[in-house]
Amino acid sequence: MTTHQGPAIRVQGLEKSYKDLKVLRGVDFEVSRGGIFALLGSNGAGKTTLVRILSTLLRPDAGTVIVNGFDVATQAADVRESISLTGQFAAVDDILTGRENLVLVAKLRHLADPGRVADEMLERFSLTEASSRRALTYSGGMRRRLDIAMSLVASPPVIFLDEPTAGLDPQGRLEVWEVVRELAGRGTTVLLTTQYLDEAEQLADRIAILHEGRILVNGTLAELQALLPAPKVEYVEKKPTLEDVFFALVGENGKEDAGDDHSVGTMTKER
Ligand SMILES: Nc1ncnc2c1ncn2[C@@H]1O[C@H](COP(=O)(O)OP(=O)(O)O)[C@@H](O)[C@H]1O
Ligand SMILES: [Mg+2]
Repeated sequence: MTTHQGPAIRVQGLEKSYKDLKVLRGVDFEVSRGGIFALLGSNGAGKTTLVRILSTLLRPDAGTVIVNGFDVATQAADVRESISLTGQFAAVDDILTGRENLVLVAKLRHLADPGRVADEMLERFSLTEASSRRALTYSGGMRRRLDIAMSLVASPPVIFLDEPTAGLDPQGRLEVWEVVRELAGRGTTVLLTTQYLDEAEQLADRIAILHEGRILVNGTLAELQALLPAPKVEYVEKKPTLEDVFFALVGENGKEDAGDDHSVGTMTKER
């Protein structure tokens, strides 16, 4: 698939309602080529709706969407050839082995040597050892990696990942993050959605926040942080976050001992 000049994705004035429910109320953003763009929004914000429109699965009520230079309304087939989509729910077939899943997709895509393509993907996503086991036996992280690998068999220039780490344990999340970074490193444009602030912070070059049907802000992490007033010392009541608890229990090299702060409800927090 040829890669076109100009932004990878351009969305203008996008609107979508389900009956009386206005989910998207005029969404505008651009994603330049390469790198990782995170669309951050809480549950029900409209992330999946947006991704479905960008991937031609759903028609918008108004607005234009250009993906890889093609209009989703009039050039849907070209858009589909330019993208891959990994949804919230995996396309993996449990009965098949990891390798069989990949061979199947390669055959569906009419690739010349499905076995070789499958083996390359297994290697790239560190699934070679597990390749002859049924997907049923995979951990959450392995399964999600296989799902992403399957969607990448045709190496499209743009990939949509809709909540790629939803439901994964911390180890599984890290594994998926690695895969996403590897993809972006090869020049693929990644648009991912997430509800997790830390995921956007860790992974994304640019972050857009979708809230009440519009993009509230769109920028780099540093640009978003600059929107808040300068740091100052405050006294706040703060309970330990789950992350504090997790690392206090599991331990993390190089991270300072949490000390006594967590045994009391009140602590001094500098921000
Ligand atoms: N097919 C549908 N019919 C009616 N309402 C829907 C449909 N799909 C999604 N919604 C509603 O639209 C809103 C946005 O949903 P969604 O795009 O799935 O949000 P997100 O992916 O950010 O959680 C939610 O309130 C959801 O209940
Ligand atoms: Mg969703």
